[in-house]
Amino acid sequence: MDYSAELSRILAPAAGIPAEEALLAIEIPSDPGLGDYAFPCFRLAARYRKAPAAIAAELCGKIQKPPFVSDIKTAGAYINFFLDKRYYIQNILAEIQERGESFGSGAQGAGLTVCVDYSSINIAKPFHMGHLSSTVIGNSLCRIYGFLGYKTVGINHLGDWGTQFGKLIVAYKRWGNKEDVEKDSVNALLSLYVKFHEEAEKDESLEEEGRAWFKKIEDADPEALGLFNWFKELTLREAAVIYDMLGIRFDSYDGESFYNDKMQPVIDELKKKNLLVESEGAYVVPLDGYGLPPCMIVKSDGATLYATRDLAAAFYRKKTYGFHKCLYVVAYQQNLHFKQLFAVLELMGCDWAKDCEHVAFGMVSLEDGTLSTRKGKVVFLKDVLDKAVEKTLAIIREKSPDLENKEETARTVGVGAVVFDTLSAARIKDITFSFDRVLDFDGETGPYVQYTHARCASLLRRADFDFEAEEKDFSALDNPEAFAVAKLLYSFPETVRRACEKNEPYLITKRITELAKAMNKYYYEHRIITEDRRKSAARLLLARCVKTVIKTGLWLIGIGAPERM
Ligand code: ARG
Repeated sequence: MDYSAELSRILAPAAGIPAEEALLAIEIPSDPGLGDYAFPCFRLAARYRKAPAAIAAELCGKIQKPPFVSDIKTAGAYINFFLDKRYYIQNILAEIQERGESFGSGAQGAGLTVCVDYSSINIAKPFHMGHLSSTVIGNSLCRIYGFLGYKTVGINHLGDWGTQFGKLIVAYKRWGNKEDVEKDSVNALLSLYVKFHEEAEKDESLEEEGRAWFKKIEDADPEALGLFNWFKELTLREAAVIYDMLGIRFDSYDGESFYNDKMQPVIDELKKKNLLVESEGAYVVPLDGYGLPPCMIVKSDGATLYATRDLAAAFYRKKTYGFHKCLYVVAYQQNLHFKQLFAVLELMGCDWAKDCEHVAFGMVSLEDGTLSTRKGKVVFLKDVLDKAVEKTLAIIREKSPDLENKEETARTVGVGAVVFDTLSAARIKDITFSFDRVLDFDGETGPYVQYTHARCASLLRRADFDFEAEEKDFSALDNPEAFAVAKLLYSFPETVRRACEKNEPYLITKRITELAKAMNKYYYEHRIITEDRRKSAARLLLARCVKTVIKTGLWLIGIGAPERM
């Protein structure tokens, strides 16, 4: 039930305006004491040549009170509507009961495809905390879009191209061995890479050797390609463990190397369109018109760049998936890169350039200083997740010694805590990560919301009668705490739509946190299961609906909801 739409249908004929106009005018008063919806009459003053307050009074006399409204009052230029709370609560609970876990989903995306480029890790580099945001924001966006009916294509645009792989081969051949690398995987590769740079400072010829080996990869030399693919395999095997913990799977792992043979046609096209300018042997697309520095497409040694591959990727995705939107979930450090990329696409005449969007996010740092990828000093995401799980397990052992599947629950809660925290604030904000904060069962955290879900589940288990079938006495929910819960339930679908429109999963995180708080306040003030079955049934239905919506909300941000904690 869409109350503002209903009200606009009643107001429009009385005010002599189209329903759409009335709908746009309807506001939600910031002070609920003034009503649940308000219709301001300022804009009608000119048309009727009367004071807004007089119009409000006149209009108020003309309209008939619909069944879902308990009271209509004017306050100055406003007509304020007070919802019939019992009607409202009953209505929203019935809707959630009927739709179950699909409550909040939609079909607005039917027939449309959205590409989500996320996580996009680099081969032979550790999966560090820096990739956490991209990974969890991207995963959540895939779920949100999917929930609203879009077809999503999750793409892990692997960083698997560049001279660094030639250097790594040199280092491996000189100082590495198969056993160590098999055993220590990305860590071993990282050490080799660090070693290469140390040695290259003493011996300049190493750089040249590295370039030569990279050329061999490009030319598909069997030995070079064999080693390169092996590095790739090791990295992906390690990443798979993390993706598994996070419940993530990709539709495509087409990364930079995939575009190796797809760049030339784009370069030719740029030439044909006279967009390419030679500059000291290199080729660039000048972007003065955009107030941006030129975008380099080919280096003076003939090598292509990150941007060249992204251009080829954009065309490939448009052609392959016919996307409605292509999202790039990448740190704000790459703002310039994406501005340039989209500008070049626009200059090439791609009308779909406007459908490409950089979904930027801020930095994650640990309490003990920022993260750095230089000199091998990085914080591995795997270590952070493992530590969160371990700490959670200790808390569970202490608080719920009788819980059956402690390990599994600790995994869901520990990993969920990290994800939840990452999705707690607007993307663009920098985050400082703290274990104590994210695992605080009483704070605005994942464990807190999950705990509320489990608490609802436990209440439902405790009911010793079939509350669904029982006739319900909704007078049991005639209290401000229940109404506050109902309002948050009601706003959930709108929250999901806004999270999608703004590519901001945190809106959902925030909403379910508020819902959990409201539910706990309700629970604190009111007993749920009492002697009166019909009243208990109404309260249990409320708990059941809260459980459903929290579960869906958690799922949308990529987190599980245990039945017991
Ligand atoms: N691999 C890059 C990095 O770690 C991110 C790639 C993002 N996607 C893209 N299409 N450029 O910084």
